Amino acid sequence: MRLSDAPLFSEEQIARRVEALAAQIATDYAAQSLTLLIVLKGAAWFGADLVRRLPGDTLVEFIRAKSYAGDTSTGEVRFPLVPEVSLAGRHVLLIEDILDTGRTLDAVTRLVEAQAPASLRACALLDKPSRRVFPARAHYVGFEVPDQFVVGYGLDHDEHYRTLPAIYTLLPD
Ligand code: IMP
Ligand code: MG
Repeated sequence: MRLSDAPLFSEEQIARRVEALAAQIATDYAAQSLTLLIVLKGAAWFGADLVRRLPGDTLVEFIRAKSYAGDTSTGEVRFPLVPEVSLAGRHVLLIEDILDTGRTLDAVTRLVEAQAPASLRACALLDKPSRRVFPARAHYVGFEVPDQFVVGYGLDHDEHYRTLPAIYTLLPD
């Protein structure tokens, strides 16, 4: 596998989109105290950039979801880390790196719903709508992407490429 020569989304494009998403979220939750639930590991980069663009006292929690081996879904979602605090009565915004089949978001949503939050929405940096199997959808989406495997800005292939500052397509050799 090799990286595309040019990024699919440059650092500048990502930064501009994150700023616009933050502005929209800030408007929508103006009167409410918000808890970001960042889905590790992939959304750590996006979540950290997004939360620094949000005004006010935003709370941050992490959940670790694991469903992938290489570029194939294993078909089950495990949660090696869950928030220690209850999300009951909170306005929760789930932060995902990419929405693919929707399995992860569907599983995280059910886990959070069981705790009776005041509200629950999802924000995904990337969305591959053509791949959807589960009915999950994100209220806020950074960019739609075609059915290609992408890496960088938190997104990995077998734990590699996460630290690239831009997003690239992973191509076959
Ligand atoms: P889903 O559960 O099928 O929606 O997949 C969501 C998870 O799969 C994401 O949080 C990513 O960790 C991973 N994933 C899906 N597509 C890609 C991709 O193109 N690049 C990197 N990771 C991906
Ligand atoms: Mg991954």
